[in-house]
Amino acid sequence: MSVRIIMKLLVETREQLDDDLVRIAFRHPIRPQLPIWTPGAHVDVRLGNGKIRQYSLTSDPSDLSRYAIIVKRERDGRGGSDFIHEHFTEGTHVRVSMPRNNFKLATGRGVLIAGGIGVTPLISMGRALSQSKMLESFYFCSKTSRPSIEGELSQFCGDSLSTYFSNEPDSQRLNVASLIENLSSDLHIYCCGPERLMSEVKHLTSDWNPDQLHFEAFNASEDQKHKAEPFDVTVSSTGETLRVSESQSILDVLRVAGYVIPSSCRQGICGTCECGYTSGEVIHRDSILSPDARQDRIMLCVSRARVSVTLDL
Ligand code: FES
Repeated sequence: MSVRIIMKLLVETREQLDDDLVRIAFRHPIRPQLPIWTPGAHVDVRLGNGKIRQYSLTSDPSDLSRYAIIVKRERDGRGGSDFIHEHFTEGTHVRVSMPRNNFKLATGRGVLIAGGIGVTPLISMGRALSQSKMLESFYFCSKTSRPSIEGELSQFCGDSLSTYFSNEPDSQRLNVASLIENLSSDLHIYCCGPERLMSEVKHLTSDWNPDQLHFEAFNASEDQKHKAEPFDVTVSSTGETLRVSESQSILDVLRVAGYVIPSSCRQGICGTCECGYTSGEVIHRDSILSPDARQDRIMLCVSRARVSVTLDL
Protein backbone atom coordinates (compact mmCIF):
# COMPACT_ATOMS: atom_id res chain seq x y z
CA MET A 1 0.00 0.00 0.00
CA SER A 2 1.46 3.36 -0.95
CA VAL A 3 0.50 6.79 0.29
CA ARG A 4 -0.04 9.17 -2.61
CA ILE A 5 1.85 12.43 -2.58
CA ILE A 6 -0.42 15.42 -3.02
CA MET A 7 0.78 18.47 -4.97
CA LYS A 8 -0.60 21.96 -4.84
CA LEU A 9 -1.02 22.92 -8.49
CA LEU A 10 -2.38 25.90 -10.33
CA VAL A 11 -5.13 25.91 -12.95
CA GLU A 12 -3.17 27.21 -15.93
CA THR A 13 -5.95 27.14 -18.51
CA ARG A 14 -9.62 26.35 -18.57
CA GLU A 15 -11.15 25.63 -21.93
CA GLN A 16 -14.87 25.13 -22.48
CA LEU A 17 -15.02 22.33 -25.06
CA ASP A 18 -18.77 21.94 -25.14
CA ASP A 19 -21.77 23.00 -23.03
CA ASP A 20 -21.01 20.28 -20.51
CA LEU A 21 -17.30 19.59 -21.15
CA VAL A 22 -14.40 21.57 -19.81
CA ARG A 23 -10.66 20.94 -20.17
CA ILE A 24 -8.57 21.99 -17.19
CA ALA A 25 -4.78 22.16 -17.45
CA PHE A 26 -2.71 22.25 -14.25
CA ARG A 27 0.89 23.31 -13.80
CA HIS A 28 3.19 23.51 -10.81
CA PRO A 29 3.44 27.08 -9.47
CA ILE A 30 7.26 26.92 -9.29
CA ARG A 31 8.70 23.78 -10.84
CA PRO A 32 8.91 23.52 -14.62
CA GLN A 33 8.07 19.82 -14.64
CA LEU A 34 5.48 17.60 -13.02
CA PRO A 35 6.07 13.94 -12.08
CA ILE A 36 6.17 11.48 -14.96
CA TRP A 37 3.13 9.40 -15.86
CA THR A 38 2.13 6.79 -18.40
CA PRO A 39 -0.86 6.65 -20.78
CA GLY A 40 -4.06 5.60 -19.02
CA ALA A 41 -3.08 7.18 -15.68
CA HIS A 42 -5.42 9.21 -13.51
CA VAL A 43 -5.03 11.71 -10.68
CA ASP A 44 -7.10 12.39 -7.60
CA VAL A 45 -8.37 15.95 -7.61
CA ARG A 46 -9.26 17.38 -4.21
CA LEU A 47 -12.17 19.71 -4.50
CA GLY A 48 -12.52 22.68 -2.19
CA ASN A 49 -15.74 21.20 -0.82
CA GLY A 50 -13.84 18.28 0.73
CA LYS A 51 -14.65 15.80 -2.02
CA ILE A 52 -12.04 13.84 -3.97
CA ARG A 53 -12.61 12.78 -7.55
CA GLN A 54 -10.51 10.79 -10.02
CA TYR A 55 -9.84 12.09 -13.52
CA SER A 56 -7.80 10.55 -16.32
CA LEU A 57 -4.94 12.59 -17.68
CA THR A 58 -5.60 13.47 -21.30
CA SER A 59 -2.48 15.45 -22.14
CA ASP A 60 0.68 14.04 -23.69
CA PRO A 61 2.95 12.28 -21.14
CA SER A 62 5.98 13.64 -23.00
CA ASP A 63 4.92 17.18 -22.01
CA LEU A 64 5.44 17.31 -18.26
CA SER A 65 4.91 21.06 -18.02
CA ARG A 66 1.20 20.42 -17.50
CA TYR A 67 -1.45 17.84 -16.67
CA ALA A 68 -4.78 18.13 -18.48
CA ILE A 69 -8.11 16.56 -17.57
CA ILE A 70 -11.50 16.74 -19.28
CA VAL A 71 -14.51 16.96 -16.98
CA LYS A 72 -18.08 16.35 -18.05
CA ARG A 73 -20.68 18.13 -15.97
CA GLU A 74 -22.97 15.44 -14.59
CA ARG A 75 -26.23 17.14 -13.62
CA ASP A 76 -27.35 14.07 -11.67
CA GLY A 77 -23.89 13.25 -10.36
CA ARG A 78 -22.44 13.45 -6.86
CA GLY A 79 -21.46 17.11 -7.15
CA GLY A 80 -17.78 16.80 -8.08
CA SER A 81 -18.07 17.81 -11.71
CA ASP A 82 -20.46 20.65 -10.84
CA PHE A 83 -17.89 22.02 -8.43
CA ILE A 84 -15.11 21.91 -11.01
CA HIS A 85 -17.24 23.58 -13.67
CA GLU A 86 -18.22 26.34 -11.26
CA HIS A 87 -15.02 26.97 -9.32
CA PHE A 88 -11.95 25.91 -11.31
CA THR A 89 -10.94 29.11 -13.03
CA GLU A 90 -7.48 30.11 -14.22
CA GLY A 91 -5.21 30.77 -11.25
CA THR A 92 -7.15 28.55 -8.81
CA HIS A 93 -4.94 26.45 -6.53
CA VAL A 94 -5.95 22.79 -6.51
CA ARG A 95 -4.56 19.80 -4.65
CA VAL A 96 -3.80 17.03 -7.11
CA SER A 97 -2.27 13.63 -6.36
CA MET A 98 0.67 12.02 -8.11
CA PRO A 99 -0.63 10.05 -11.11
CA ARG A 100 -1.56 6.40 -10.66
CA ASN A 101 -2.12 3.94 -13.50
CA ASN A 102 -4.57 1.04 -13.25
CA PHE A 103 -5.12 0.93 -17.00
CA LYS A 104 -1.70 0.40 -18.53
CA LEU A 105 -0.90 -0.31 -22.15
CA ALA A 106 0.37 -3.81 -22.85
CA THR A 107 2.85 -4.73 -25.54
CA GLY A 108 1.15 -5.30 -28.88
CA ARG A 109 -1.40 -3.78 -31.22
CA GLY A 110 -4.48 -2.34 -29.59
CA VAL A 111 -8.15 -1.67 -30.33
CA LEU A 112 -9.72 1.08 -28.24
CA ILE A 113 -13.45 1.20 -27.50
CA ALA A 114 -14.73 4.31 -25.75
CA GLY A 115 -18.24 5.12 -24.57
CA GLY A 116 -19.11 8.71 -23.66
CA ILE A 117 -16.75 10.39 -21.22
CA GLY A 118 -15.01 7.01 -20.87
CA VAL A 119 -12.98 8.26 -23.80
CA THR A 120 -10.73 10.30 -21.50
CA PRO A 121 -8.15 7.64 -20.47
CA LEU A 122 -8.13 6.31 -24.01
CA ILE A 123 -7.00 9.65 -25.46
CA SER A 124 -3.46 9.36 -24.09
CA MET A 125 -3.41 5.61 -24.76
CA GLY A 126 -4.52 6.04 -28.37
CA ARG A 127 -1.92 8.76 -28.89
CA ALA A 128 0.84 6.52 -27.53
CA LEU A 129 -0.27 3.53 -29.61
CA SER A 130 -0.42 5.70 -32.68
CA GLN A 131 3.07 7.09 -32.04
CA SER A 132 4.44 3.56 -31.78
CA LYS A 133 2.39 2.44 -34.82
CA MET A 134 0.48 -0.02 -32.66
CA LEU A 135 -2.98 1.51 -32.98
CA GLU A 136 -5.29 -0.89 -34.81
CA SER A 137 -8.52 1.11 -34.45
CA PHE A 138 -10.30 3.53 -32.14
CA TYR A 139 -14.09 3.38 -31.72
CA PHE A 140 -15.72 6.34 -30.03
CA CYS A 141 -19.44 6.11 -29.16
CA SER A 142 -21.44 8.91 -27.63
CA LYS A 143 -25.06 10.01 -27.48
CA THR A 144 -24.31 13.30 -29.14
CA SER A 145 -21.60 14.51 -31.45
CA ARG A 146 -18.47 15.74 -29.63
CA PRO A 147 -16.52 17.79 -32.19
CA SER A 148 -13.78 18.80 -29.73
CA ILE A 149 -13.03 15.21 -28.70
CA GLU A 150 -13.37 13.97 -32.25
CA GLY A 151 -10.97 16.66 -33.43
CA GLU A 152 -8.40 15.67 -30.83
CA LEU A 153 -8.71 11.97 -31.63
CA SER A 154 -8.51 12.47 -35.37
CA GLN A 155 -5.17 14.28 -34.97
CA PHE A 156 -3.44 11.04 -34.09
CA CYS A 157 -5.92 8.34 -35.18
CA GLY A 158 -6.37 9.37 -38.79
CA ASP A 159 -8.34 6.68 -40.61
CA SER A 160 -8.25 4.40 -37.57
CA LEU A 161 -11.01 6.45 -35.90
CA SER A 162 -14.69 5.48 -36.17
CA THR A 163 -17.36 7.51 -34.40
CA TYR A 164 -20.94 6.62 -33.46
CA PHE A 165 -23.41 9.18 -32.12
CA SER A 166 -26.66 7.47 -31.20
CA ASN A 167 -28.81 10.61 -30.98
CA GLU A 168 -27.57 12.17 -34.20
CA PRO A 169 -29.85 11.68 -37.21
CA ASP A 170 -27.20 10.50 -39.67
CA SER A 171 -25.20 8.35 -37.32
CA GLN A 172 -25.58 4.79 -36.14
CA ARG A 173 -24.80 2.61 -33.15
CA LEU A 174 -21.63 0.59 -32.91
CA ASN A 175 -22.35 -3.08 -33.52
CA VAL A 176 -20.12 -4.44 -30.78
CA ALA A 177 -20.81 -8.09 -31.61
CA SER A 178 -19.77 -7.69 -35.20
CA LEU A 179 -16.73 -5.64 -34.20
CA ILE A 180 -15.45 -8.28 -31.76
CA GLU A 181 -16.21 -11.11 -34.15
CA ASN A 182 -14.00 -9.55 -36.80
CA LEU A 183 -11.04 -8.75 -34.57
CA SER A 184 -7.85 -10.72 -34.82
CA SER A 185 -7.41 -12.62 -31.57
CA ASP A 186 -3.84 -11.41 -31.06
CA LEU A 187 -4.98 -7.83 -30.43
CA HIS A 188 -5.36 -6.12 -27.08
CA ILE A 189 -8.74 -4.55 -26.38
CA TYR A 190 -8.98 -1.46 -24.17
CA CYS A 191 -12.47 -0.40 -23.19
CA CYS A 192 -13.82 2.36 -20.98
CA GLY A 193 -17.38 3.59 -20.87
CA PRO A 194 -20.78 2.94 -19.37
CA GLU A 195 -21.35 -0.34 -17.56
CA ARG A 196 -23.59 -1.61 -20.36
CA LEU A 197 -20.90 -1.19 -23.02
CA MET A 198 -18.20 -2.76 -20.89
CA SER A 199 -20.43 -5.69 -19.92
CA GLU A 200 -21.19 -6.34 -23.57
CA VAL A 201 -17.51 -6.29 -24.53
CA LYS A 202 -16.66 -8.55 -21.56
CA HIS A 203 -19.41 -10.98 -22.50
CA LEU A 204 -18.38 -11.12 -26.16
CA THR A 205 -14.72 -11.67 -25.29
CA SER A 206 -15.29 -14.26 -22.57
CA ASP A 207 -13.24 -16.80 -24.53
CA TRP A 208 -10.30 -14.42 -25.08
CA ASN A 209 -7.06 -14.54 -23.14
CA PRO A 210 -7.76 -12.25 -20.13
CA ASP A 211 -4.28 -10.74 -20.51
CA GLN A 212 -5.46 -9.13 -23.76
CA LEU A 213 -8.52 -7.48 -22.21
CA HIS A 214 -8.26 -4.18 -20.39
CA PHE A 215 -11.16 -2.31 -18.83
CA GLU A 216 -11.47 0.80 -16.74
CA ALA A 217 -14.65 1.71 -14.92
CA PHE A 218 -15.48 5.26 -13.96
CA ASN A 219 -18.42 4.21 -11.84
CA ALA A 220 -18.65 1.36 -9.40
CA SER A 221 -20.51 -1.58 -10.88
CA GLU A 222 -23.67 -2.55 -9.07
CA ASP A 223 -23.85 -6.13 -7.93
CA GLN A 224 -27.53 -6.48 -7.14
CA LYS A 225 -27.18 -10.03 -5.86
CA HIS A 226 -24.44 -9.30 -3.35
CA LYS A 227 -25.49 -9.77 0.26
CA ALA A 228 -22.88 -8.59 2.75
CA GLU A 229 -22.02 -10.98 5.58
CA PRO A 230 -19.80 -10.32 8.62
CA PHE A 231 -16.26 -11.73 8.67
CA ASP A 232 -12.94 -11.38 10.50
CA VAL A 233 -9.91 -9.49 9.28
CA THR A 234 -6.46 -10.17 10.72
CA VAL A 235 -3.54 -7.76 10.39
CA SER A 236 -0.43 -9.88 9.90
CA SER A 237 2.06 -7.35 11.33
CA THR A 238 0.26 -7.05 14.68
CA GLY A 239 -1.70 -10.30 14.82
CA GLU A 240 -4.81 -8.29 15.70
CA THR A 241 -8.15 -9.72 14.53
CA LEU A 242 -11.11 -7.39 13.98
CA ARG A 243 -14.74 -8.09 13.16
CA VAL A 244 -16.22 -6.49 10.02
CA SER A 245 -20.00 -6.28 10.30
CA GLU A 246 -22.31 -6.50 7.29
CA SER A 247 -22.65 -2.71 7.23
CA GLN A 248 -18.92 -1.89 7.50
CA SER A 249 -16.01 -2.03 5.09
CA ILE A 250 -12.57 -3.39 5.97
CA LEU A 251 -11.28 0.14 5.44
CA ASP A 252 -13.69 1.57 8.04
CA VAL A 253 -12.88 -1.10 10.61
CA LEU A 254 -9.12 -0.70 10.22
CA ARG A 255 -9.35 3.07 10.54
CA VAL A 256 -11.47 2.89 13.68
CA ALA A 257 -8.83 0.56 15.11
CA GLY A 258 -6.14 3.19 14.45
CA TYR A 259 -4.53 1.90 11.26
CA VAL A 260 -3.64 4.61 8.76
CA ILE A 261 -5.03 3.50 5.41
CA PRO A 262 -5.10 5.84 2.40
CA SER A 263 -8.31 5.96 0.38
CA SER A 264 -9.92 8.10 -2.24
CA CYS A 265 -12.90 6.95 -4.31
CA ARG A 266 -14.22 4.38 -1.80
CA GLN A 267 -15.88 2.70 -4.78
CA GLY A 268 -13.21 0.23 -5.84
CA ILE A 269 -12.22 2.18 -8.92
CA CYS A 270 -9.09 4.18 -8.06
CA GLY A 271 -6.70 1.68 -6.44
CA THR A 272 -5.63 3.90 -3.53
CA CYS A 273 -6.59 1.43 -0.79
CA GLU A 274 -5.05 -1.63 -2.47
CA CYS A 275 -3.46 -4.06 -0.03
CA GLY A 276 -1.97 -7.54 -0.13
CA TYR A 277 -3.52 -10.55 1.60
CA THR A 278 -1.94 -13.85 2.53
CA SER A 279 -4.92 -16.09 3.26
CA GLY A 280 -8.69 -16.17 3.16
CA GLU A 281 -11.40 -16.36 0.53
CA VAL A 282 -11.84 -12.84 -0.74
CA ILE A 283 -15.04 -11.57 -2.37
CA HIS A 284 -13.61 -9.05 -4.82
CA ARG A 285 -15.96 -6.15 -5.51
CA ASP A 286 -13.58 -3.66 -7.12
CA SER A 287 -13.48 -2.72 -10.79
CA ILE A 288 -9.74 -2.67 -11.40
CA LEU A 289 -7.80 -5.72 -10.21
CA SER A 290 -6.98 -8.31 -12.85
CA PRO A 291 -7.75 -11.99 -12.21
CA ASP A 292 -4.04 -12.53 -11.52
CA ALA A 293 -3.79 -9.64 -9.09
CA ARG A 294 -6.85 -10.89 -7.24
CA GLN A 295 -4.90 -13.92 -6.08
CA ASP A 296 -3.11 -11.81 -3.47
CA ARG A 297 -4.40 -8.22 -3.67
CA ILE A 298 -7.60 -6.69 -2.28
CA MET A 299 -9.29 -3.28 -2.35
CA LEU A 300 -10.14 -2.55 1.26
CA CYS A 301 -12.92 -0.05 0.56
CA VAL A 302 -15.31 -2.47 -1.17
CA SER A 303 -14.08 -6.05 -1.08
CA ARG A 304 -15.03 -8.52 1.60
CA ALA A 305 -14.24 -12.08 2.63
CA ARG A 306 -15.95 -15.33 3.43
CA VAL A 307 -15.34 -16.08 7.12
CA SER A 308 -11.90 -14.40 7.38
CA VAL A 309 -8.98 -12.79 5.58
CA THR A 310 -5.41 -12.06 6.68
CA LEU A 311 -3.98 -8.82 5.35
CA ASP A 312 -0.34 -8.29 4.47
CA LEU A 313 -0.37 -5.09 6.48
S1 FES B 1 -10.39 4.02 -2.21
FE1 FES B 1 -10.44 3.85 -4.38
S2 FES B 1 -10.29 1.70 -4.68
FE2 FES B 1 -10.50 1.90 -2.54
